[in-house]
Order: sequence, then structure tokens, then C-alpha cells
Amino acid sequence: MKHIFKQGNKDLPTLLLLHGTGGDERDLLPLADMIEPDASVLSVKGNVDENGMARFFARLREGVFDEEDLIFRTKELNEFIDESANNYGFDRQNIVALGYSNGANIAASLMYHYKDALKGGILFHAMVPRRNVKLPDLSDALVFIGAGKRDPLIPMQETMELVKNLQDARAQVTEFWTEGGHELRREEVDEAKRWFEANFK
Ligand code: MLT
Repeated sequence: MKHIFKQGNKDLPTLLLLHGTGGDERDLLPLADMIEPDASVLSVKGNVDENGMARFFARLREGVFDEEDLIFRTKELNEFIDESANNYGFDRQNIVALGYSNGANIAASLMYHYKDALKGGILFHAMVPRRNVKLPDLSDALVFIGAGKRDPLIPMQETMELVKNLQDARAQVTEFWTEGGHELRREEVDEAKRWFEANFK
């Protein structure tokens, strides 16, 4: 997969950057710098092309995912992370995803499908990736969820369902709500930084 790797402090988790629809592997680099400038970064570009916009998996229409493709792409990304950990020599067991929107959705999907894919995740404006599936035991995982109370794409109920699914799988989940919509707000980035520092430094 197209990507950027930046070596940082080996004692910190590697940040796995996953952009939103229409973004690329450069998009979230400034965000990673705000969360933890010393962390190694693996920033990946989604392999799916939707009318010229990169995504991490196909959708049938806005908010309705192509489940078969989601499962395939989640496996593809998980294997790409395995290979990258080998190639670049970072700790496969110590990765924190940092994703926005479509990128947060595939990060959630990694957690829904694979027990040890991620040590943690900062999920900004994520949806429920799949329903009626049993999640693996996520008792080692820490998740920060940033959401907007007026997000036109993601009803509050859906964010709460995501939180509940993760908690039922025994992940430690921190929620942070803004008064905003689908856009990423400074206040949630600041809160995610505090969360990262409290849990990983
Ligand atoms: C998705 O398709 O992953 C969500 O609708 C968010 C987005 O528009 O990327």
C-alpha cells in the first residue's frame, strides 16, 4: 500500500495514520505531530478509488458499506501492518491508530476483526463498521472516540453503539463529544493528546 514511514522514539507506540475519504498518506501528518511529535508514524493511503477519491474500503452509498470489501480490505491492511513492522523494525504489538472518518472506520474494523491488530485507537468520527458479529477480546486495547453531537453522517446513537460494542469486548473506551458536526475540531485533538499522554507516555 502507498505509505510514509517516519522513525521516531522506539519507546512510544507507532501511530498508524488513516485518512478520511479523498485524503492521502500526507493528510494526517500534522495531526500526528500535534498528538505526539516524537512517535514513529506509519501513514497509509487507502487502496480503493471512488471517483478519484481514495478510501480504505468501498461503500454502496454514503454511510452504507460494502461489507465484503470491508472484510477484504481490513485483512489487507492488517497484513500490510505486519509487513511494515518487519520491514521498518517497529513493535507490531504497540500500534495506536489515528483515524478520521473513513480512516477511523477501518481502524474500528481492525479492532472488530483482529484481537491484537491495535494496542489502541484514536477514532475521530467513526461509525459502526459491522453489525451482528462477535468482537474478539479487546481487554488490552484503549480507545479514544471523538464525536460531534450534530454530525449529519453519524447519529449520536451510532457512536454510542460503537462505544458499547467495544466496551462489551472489554476495551477501555474514552468518549469525547463536541457540539460540532463531522468536522474535526481542535478541542477533540487537544483531548486526544491528553489521553495519549496519560496512557502511553
Ligand atoms: C465512510 O464511508 O467511511 C463514512 O461514510 C465516512 C466517509 O464519508 O468517509
